[in-house]
Amino acid sequence: MPSTPNTMERENFATKFGVLVAMAGSAIGLGNLWRFPYLVGSYGGAAFIFVYIICVFVLCLPILFSEVIVGRRSHANAFGAFKKLAPGSRWKWLGALSVLTPLIIVSYYSVVGGWGVEYFFKSVTFEFTDGMTQSQLGTLFSSFTSSVWAPLMGHTIFLLMTALIVISGVKSGIEKFGKVMMPMLFVLIVIIAVRAVTLPGAAEGLAYLFKPDFSKIDASVCSAALGQAFFSLSLGMGTMLTYGSYVSKKENIAASSSYTAISDTIFALLASCAIMPAVFAFGLDPEEGPSLVFETLPFIFSNMSLGAFVAILFFLALIVAALTSSISLYEVVVAYLVEEKHYTRKGAAILVFVVAWVLGILCSLSFGPLSEFRIFGQTVFNLFDKLSANFLMPLGGLLIVIFVGWVMKKSDVIDEFTNGGSLKANVRVSGFVYFLIRYICPLAVLAVFLTALIF
Ligand code: PHE
Repeated sequence: MPSTPNTMERENFATKFGVLVAMAGSAIGLGNLWRFPYLVGSYGGAAFIFVYIICVFVLCLPILFSEVIVGRRSHANAFGAFKKLAPGSRWKWLGALSVLTPLIIVSYYSVVGGWGVEYFFKSVTFEFTDGMTQSQLGTLFSSFTSSVWAPLMGHTIFLLMTALIVISGVKSGIEKFGKVMMPMLFVLIVIIAVRAVTLPGAAEGLAYLFKPDFSKIDASVCSAALGQAFFSLSLGMGTMLTYGSYVSKKENIAASSSYTAISDTIFALLASCAIMPAVFAFGLDPEEGPSLVFETLPFIFSNMSLGAFVAILFFLALIVAALTSSISLYEVVVAYLVEEKHYTRKGAAILVFVVAWVLGILCSLSFGPLSEFRIFGQTVFNLFDKLSANFLMPLGGLLIVIFVGWVMKKSDVIDEFTNGGSLKANVRVSGFVYFLIRYICPLAVLAVFLTALIF
């Protein structure tokens, strides 16, 4: 229920480490553990990784700077930011897009998060221990996702956990959770990666990941790599903008953003090291696609020594990573409702829960009873996934660099990037970064956006 106008002071992240874990927590998620490894497998291994790394550091990092600059400059939610920085203009529609996109993503993201919850329970009850075959595990996955109640249960639990963390607030919810969970996540993934690379026969998988065959690079590899970089860094919607608005004026946003991109990339590589060597060691197909994590990995777990425990660790890591990302999506909409529509934080969280829960139910059922229900030829789940990743995120990213590069005053952008000129290292690179934001990023994103639309 809307309450009286909210006059509360805005919260900020309390510490530098808090800023980093929140931003890295948003970036590191299902995109790293589930999407990145299967794309690496589908697009030729090391060559894809090579292009991906260039996309992250040359194109996406300046976009990340741009979002955080808009957030911290305005100290407002994703909608309010554009009203504040460009009053009375049509840029408020970019604000509206920045609030709508996360709402769509959080609803299907929590369905996949819910699969993670189910697979965690399966691993805790040692369902993957008895040397099951890959086809048995394939059937297990498809009969689970196409059923009605079990995936809905997972979706509900996952979304509820997200809501509870967000209700606790920026400092005592998001920041606190991230501070405990992110370091744990790194430890977990390192343990799993070490186990995987020491399997007999793992060397072939490592060569696949780190010895690029440059002849494999073509337009589709580039567009998939840039799209993945967008998804993985949580760009093109209000997420990093909203988190940027909770960063205090004394923090170095260029440093926090760079550390976020670096840790996100390291994490994606660690996840691949956890998965690919094992895929090769067991003679499986790296081109398995989106089911890689839920079908291939349980097969590996059920056939390796200590696999039952590695499975528990892995699915725990998956849930934690997905949660720190989904809270960042959720927070965008909650911040908007609290600041623009004067909801209480709790009221806003409940409203978002109801909407995302209902949309998520449609996504979940689209693997079973609603699989024949199509919009533009797509199931609801695929529509949400494609619409956001291939259309709404690149569109939002394109518009935000145009906003920062062409609408905001250059002096304001540089001022925000360098903390009024006091951060000397930032001053030195600011001209180059501004050039990337103004010219290179819009052109490159436009190119990918059009490729995605055409193909
Ligand atoms: N970056 C997250 C991941 O890799 C997904 C995400 C996208 C989160 C957009 C927030 C916003 O899983």
